[in-house]
Amino acid sequence: MQDPFRASETNTPCNRSGANTPFMVVTIDGPAASGKSTVAKMLAQQLGFRYLDTGAMYRAVALAGLRKGTDWDDADQVSRLLDGLDLRITGTKVFLGKEDVTETIRTPEVTRVTSIAADSPLVRQYLIGMQRAIAKETNLITEGRDQGTVVFPDADCKFFLVASPEERARRRCRDYERLGKPTAYEEVLKDILERDQRDRERPFGGLARAEDAIEINTDNLSPEEVVALIVPIIRAKSEGKRDSQTK
Ligand code: DC
Repeated sequence: MQDPFRASETNTPCNRSGANTPFMVVTIDGPAASGKSTVAKMLAQQLGFRYLDTGAMYRAVALAGLRKGTDWDDADQVSRLLDGLDLRITGTKVFLGKEDVTETIRTPEVTRVTSIAADSPLVRQYLIGMQRAIAKETNLITEGRDQGTVVFPDADCKFFLVASPEERARRRCRDYERLGKPTAYEEVLKDILERDQRDRERPFGGLARAEDAIEINTDNLSPEEVVALIVPIIRAKSEGKRDSQTK
């Protein structure tokens, strides 16, 4: 089998000093349907770290803006939206005020608006601030597009998951089937290729691999196998960090 690892040639993986806190920050980035959500959740559970789905944060802001009719190009409107926002994210649940919006943020309409909202520098600045504040309080497995590059350049461990567009389309088809919404493979593949293109071309927070991230090709691996590759790397780094803090 092909070696799933592709670490940077210029950096030893996980060689950073780590964020300047006693807590571990582990970033899991990658394109849509690369398996990062499943793997990040499993890692968090296995290691007892907090799991942060940053895509869900962007989706929740988009939903709030959709309801208010926010014009994402109007800085005043976006500022007002963010000032009045009561966004909370706990484990895998997302709340706007008291309302649990975990399911609502996954509709196609919210997905479409999210890619527009996520291009707003004000929205990005706001959510990046929230993400960094969370990392100051707990060991974190954080998942997204820009976690290892922009949000946590000094993360203790960075992973970048990739898979071929065809494999990602097959996975998405299985997800849709499970949700009772079977969709044609060709349609799903086209959607994935278009999303990749948009993600790469985004003016802010576009998809990019941090130089010191470990790239893992998940094409021929189950989520359990990916987790089994990653856990020892995080454990080793965590022990190193503990040792250096007790010296
Ligand atoms: O991972 P997801 O499909 O839930 O992401 C939803 C949207 O949010 C997608 O358009 C990419 C964007 N996003 C982002 O810009 N930055 C992140 N850190 C996470 C997601």
